[in-house]
Amino acid sequence: MKITSSLPEYQSLTQDLLVVFHFEDEQTGGFLALKTANQALIDSLSEKKTIKSDLGHVTTLLGHKDLPATNVVIIGCGKRSAFTESTFITTVKTLTAEAKKTSATSVVFSIDDIKPGSHTAQWTTEKAVETMFAALYQYDATKSKKAEPTTLKSLTLLAVEQNLELSIQTGKAVAHGINLARELGNLPANVCDPAYLAEQATNLADAYDEVEVDIVEEAEMAEMGMGAFLAVSQGSDKAGKIIVLKYNGGKADQQPHVLVGKGLTFDSGGISIKPAAGMEEMKWDMLGAASVLGVMNTIAELKPAINVIGVIATAENMVSGGATRPGDVVTCMNGKTVEIINTDAEGRLVLCDTLTYVERFNPASVIDIATLTGAIVIGLGHHATAVYSNKEELQQQIVSAGLAAWDRGWPMPLWDEYKEELKSPYADFRNVGSRAGGSITAAMYLSEFAQNYNWAHLDIAGTGWSDAKEGAYGRPVGMLTKYLLDRIS
Ligand code: BES
Ligand code: MN
Ligand code: ZN
Repeated sequence: MKITSSLPEYQSLTQDLLVVFHFEDEQTGGFLALKTANQALIDSLSEKKTIKSDLGHVTTLLGHKDLPATNVVIIGCGKRSAFTESTFITTVKTLTAEAKKTSATSVVFSIDDIKPGSHTAQWTTEKAVETMFAALYQYDATKSKKAEPTTLKSLTLLAVEQNLELSIQTGKAVAHGINLARELGNLPANVCDPAYLAEQATNLADAYDEVEVDIVEEAEMAEMGMGAFLAVSQGSDKAGKIIVLKYNGGKADQQPHVLVGKGLTFDSGGISIKPAAGMEEMKWDMLGAASVLGVMNTIAELKPAINVIGVIATAENMVSGGATRPGDVVTCMNGKTVEIINTDAEGRLVLCDTLTYVERFNPASVIDIATLTGAIVIGLGHHATAVYSNKEELQQQIVSAGLAAWDRGWPMPLWDEYKEELKSPYADFRNVGSRAGGSITAAMYLSEFAQNYNWAHLDIAGTGWSDAKEGAYGRPVGMLTKYLLDRIS
């Protein structure tokens, strides 16, 4: 899809669909232009309540005379003061759905008219483009009937501000990353397994000169003493992998920012097996990894002057005669021992060794992203990603990036008191605490392996997906991309 910006003029539009925004208490440029073009029609439709300013109300005018475009969609936006980032995003999703319904090939709407709050035209453009591309995503990989491809070929954004090219590019690139993460997440575990993720990473490295890939196999992990990681993958016939993607956009001596994604392509729970109901959802237990691949894809497209390393800790948590037993004690790469009380607390086991592994990169920061605990779904629900960090400044940078990207996170504590729960009579740690504060004790466990650098942990079990119908959300690709772009010096 070709996206261009142009000045807010409605006289000689050639696009097939003009979308205008109708506020209860404010006349926007697009709606005014519509009224000016055919006041009698708009008045009569308003009187008949065909046109309403109620939030989300849609009026479609197809083939009317004397309007600025052949087809017009009017979207109710409610009161201007109540028009937030969230209602703005819903409005862009609605307009995309209308463009689909009318099979429009070219769409035009005003960025100035839908700026929420005090946001700039740049912010609004970036988010509108991102939201539209994401709204066009349809899963069909494992269906015999393929989704209809979009008819949309061009999008024109009207704005007084004309310096919008970078925002358009960024919005597109972020959406590509989001949609890649969603697709990987939505694929079933018999397709998207550790080898498949490695293949995706290899494809990315092949496509971009700035990206290189290295894959650490189980034999090498054994040599490095990754007893915790291997204790998880040993129950599966599929071999676990650590996939390392390096994006070199900065100077060679610039410390990299490292992202570490939990990539359990399926989590049965292992011998501490999960209940049957809902177990199919554990194909999404690789959304941390998917977000890392998504961000690397976005970064490769945008080519910022920074160094970023994306690391994926991928394995399958299965049951077999060789699977880890509850009570087994293993030795981690950093020499610490852990008693595996519950084989379903496997994310922290693959991550702890991977966190030790990434020390070699001398990182400026390390952020791990994981669908780590059911407890955070109870704690924060599906809207906020939990943000933990051993450095307050880093935690704030991530929370601010999330707010700016409208992919929000919320700070969580890492206090020593929570560590008490991880004591074991048989090892340096146990891998689970009690039910109380389950996301925090999981983060405390990880923090033990991240003492040598600035580290943050994002628990995305609540924000990665919420139901099968919507599928994976592609979060937190937006938040992480913003965090990384903010680091360009
Ligand atoms: N992948 C799950 C966490 C999860 C649960 C994500 C539900 C999304 C929805 C993780 O590996 C897990 O099983 N965690 C356990 C930890 C417990 C055994 C301490 C959990 O949250 O129940
Ligand atoms: Mn588990
Ligand atoms: Zn898991």
